[in-house]
Amino acid sequence: MNATLAPLFEPLRIGSAVLRNRIVMAPMTRNFCPGGVPGDDVAGYYRRRAYGETGLIITEGVGIDHPAALGEAGIGESDLPQLHGERALAGWRHVVEQVHAAGGLIFPQLWHQGVMRVVGTGPNPGAASMRPSGLWGPADGLTSSTAEYVQQQLLPTAPMADSEIQDVIDAYARSAVHAHLCGFDGIAIHGAHGYLIDTFLWDVTNRRTDAWGGGRRERSRFAAEVVRAIRRSVGPDMPILFRFSQWKQQDFKAKLARTPGELEEILLPIAEAGVDIFDASVRYFNRAEFADLPGADGQLNLAGWARKITGRLTMTVGGVGLSNGMYDSNKQGGSNASDNLDLLMERFQRGEFDLVGVGRSLLHDPDWTRKARLGETFEPFSNDSLKVLT
Ligand SMILES: Cc1cc2nc3c(=O)[nH]c(=O)nc-3n(C[C@H](O)[C@H](O)[C@H](O)COP(=O)(O)O)c2cc1C
Repeated sequence: MNATLAPLFEPLRIGSAVLRNRIVMAPMTRNFCPGGVPGDDVAGYYRRRAYGETGLIITEGVGIDHPAALGEAGIGESDLPQLHGERALAGWRHVVEQVHAAGGLIFPQLWHQGVMRVVGTGPNPGAASMRPSGLWGPADGLTSSTAEYVQQQLLPTAPMADSEIQDVIDAYARSAVHAHLCGFDGIAIHGAHGYLIDTFLWDVTNRRTDAWGGGRRERSRFAAEVVRAIRRSVGPDMPILFRFSQWKQQDFKAKLARTPGELEEILLPIAEAGVDIFDASVRYFNRAEFADLPGADGQLNLAGWARKITGRLTMTVGGVGLSNGMYDSNKQGGSNASDNLDLLMERFQRGEFDLVGVGRSLLHDPDWTRKARLGETFEPFSNDSLKVLT
């Protein structure tokens, strides 16, 4: 056992789920589900990570049971999975069984692309894309999306009607029920990166003057109602994880909150609606979130703040085992992760987070978690893993 990392290998109970350790596979889109259906290859992909001792797997984003949940969203999506329909649900049941047989747990990441979906694409091309105020985002944001995609998306559309908002909330709840029936161990909600839920939180894309918009608390209402509806559907014990981020794909420099007080206004209503775990998505875990604050507060990362503000469990993520963040210019990262893991453990020991999300390192090496436990050398990371995705 690697003594430094030993605390990460303590089990953790969250409601009805008992994680054998604190390492979580971060959600990563794959495009290997023709017709929205995960096949045996998908089950094998997740089973390998569970067999490699990863405590909890969060699946790639899975489209909720709403006509505009999925489509082309500027990053070439096709063959994205869904969480409705007999064949898809049978496929997911098989995935869950395989992960359980390998000793792991698995949550689906419930996903609605919202403003990112290109009109006329996806399984239901005729469906209107859902945008809180008809807006995609700023024309001048720092983004890796192509200029062509941005120009297309900048054309304003109709804001969501009240009935459309309710339909989407109902679709989240229905999909959570499907997840429960498939045997998943919890629910992960994608509330980050500029997709539907995040665009309600963000003042740039939510200009509504009704009950779904206004100040930060009011902009959190949609997220809170989604969580509340899911909680009602799955009962009190099934863990609910909520992912949020400051950054958006429309603008990497975007901020939901510039102070801890602002973050509190956003997170507390969502926490109180029934979240067990906040997953604070940043590109590099070792960055202080509000660095101009004096003393220890100035050191806390975003997960640390979520924990301090809400008292809920939190997960950190971003560059664990790598020397570069997901969107940094040199994506190759570093293979020698020991410095990085020391920094991770300093924060873990200070109580900033309870879980550690690992993305690309686990994509590249299904046995990453076992190697971390045993103190074995990690394989050098290569961008080729992002192409192969096995
Ligand atoms: C190929 C790839 C696909 C991703 N897809 C998703 C996704 O579907 N949902 C999501 O919330 N984040 C997604 N992410 C972000 C990851 O969950 C994670 O936050 C990010 O990769 C940072 O962690 P890492 O540095 O350990 O890779 C994706 C990342 C990668 C590399």
